Amino acid sequence: PLFPVILAGGKGERFWPLSRQNRPKQFLDLDGSGRSLLQVTADRLLPLAGDWENLWVITSSQIAQGVKEQLPQLPPDNLLIELQGRDTAAAVAWTSLEIKKRYGDDAIIGFFPADHWIANQEAFANTLNAATQLAANTAAIVTLGIKPAFPSTGYGYIEQGEKIGCFNDLPAYHVNRFTEKPDRQTAEKFLSTGRFSWNSGMFIFRAGVVLKELHTHAPDIIEPLEKHGSDIYPQLPKMSIDYALMEKTGLAYVIPVEFGWDDLGDWNAIERLLKKEDTPNVELGTHVGLDTQGAIIYNNNPNDVVVTIGLEDVVIVRDRNVTLIVKKDRTQEIKQILKTLQSDP
Ligand code: GDD
Ligand code: MG
Repeated sequence: PLFPVILAGGKGERFWPLSRQNRPKQFLDLDGSGRSLLQVTADRLLPLAGDWENLWVITSSQIAQGVKEQLPQLPPDNLLIELQGRDTAAAVAWTSLEIKKRYGDDAIIGFFPADHWIANQEAFANTLNAATQLAANTAAIVTLGIKPAFPSTGYGYIEQGEKIGCFNDLPAYHVNRFTEKPDRQTAEKFLSTGRFSWNSGMFIFRAGVVLKELHTHAPDIIEPLEKHGSDIYPQLPKMSIDYALMEKTGLAYVIPVEFGWDDLGDWNAIERLLKKEDTPNVELGTHVGLDTQGAIIYNNNPNDVVVTIGLEDVVIVRDRNVTLIVKKDRTQEIKQILKTLQSDP
């Protein structure tokens, strides 16, 4: 059995204006499926958990109410609400402590981001069974490695070491080195060796194993939590689990995966997800274009028409009172412009 935990405390600012302060990315239906990213993530994990009773969510206080509305079957005690987001190291530490309290050191925990797209659900379930077996049999921090498609600077990189065996027919390897978000040059160097995969952001381990590793590598996070409980949260260091633990632990293992994966990080992900070969643009909502191509248009206002002439490689978003127009290769900067707006309109 696996206790899956959904990490649902991020803001998803790069999907503004669709994501707003009280309606972050996790709550959006980005693919037009009628289910939000959070709901799709829960749907995918429920078969692994076996029951809602075994599924956990950790999120921040601003959006906890939304989580309750979107996942009404989640037991209230399985929803951990952070007084203030302190990034994923604190989230992993607190949840692991709570699960250990209820189920003991040998409980197998899996952490899952709420912003992933996964193509093949069956292959996903098989891989997680393999990861669960590996975590049950070894003092392992198990990662899932994605075949890298380009020298991204937004992901963690995992260097594959010696093979340690097969689990559920899938090979698993030691991790020689974990590097979070390298610069471009380093990423290119990694790719050229052929030994690296992207970190998928999912982690599987026994409660006792991760807590011990946190004691060794991140005592400034785990010790205050153990001593004072979650009231201490706002005083904890703000750090991701990738820097706090993954770059330091010697217990990391990787299972290379092939289930079709994407991180829905910014508007360009919509294109990778929904682009059809025979249409010039990706359109959600009404758009009339003349000589417009390579555009991503998301028009959320049913009575409005977006009309374009001669545009290329732009993102246009109409949502309630906001219109965003941005070049496709500058969507990362939405984070920046949000800081200059007085308040999220
Ligand atoms: N509860 C909680 N609290 N969740 C959080 C917090 C927090 O303070 N901060 C982020 N999260 C959630 C996000 O909602 C997301 O689901 C997940 O944790 C990962 O955070 P991101 O901010 O999206 O991380 P990233 O994409 O930059 O990097 C991570 O994921 C990559 C793959 O998508 C790293 O693990 C990389 O190594 C990895 O390649
Ligand atoms: Mg992410």
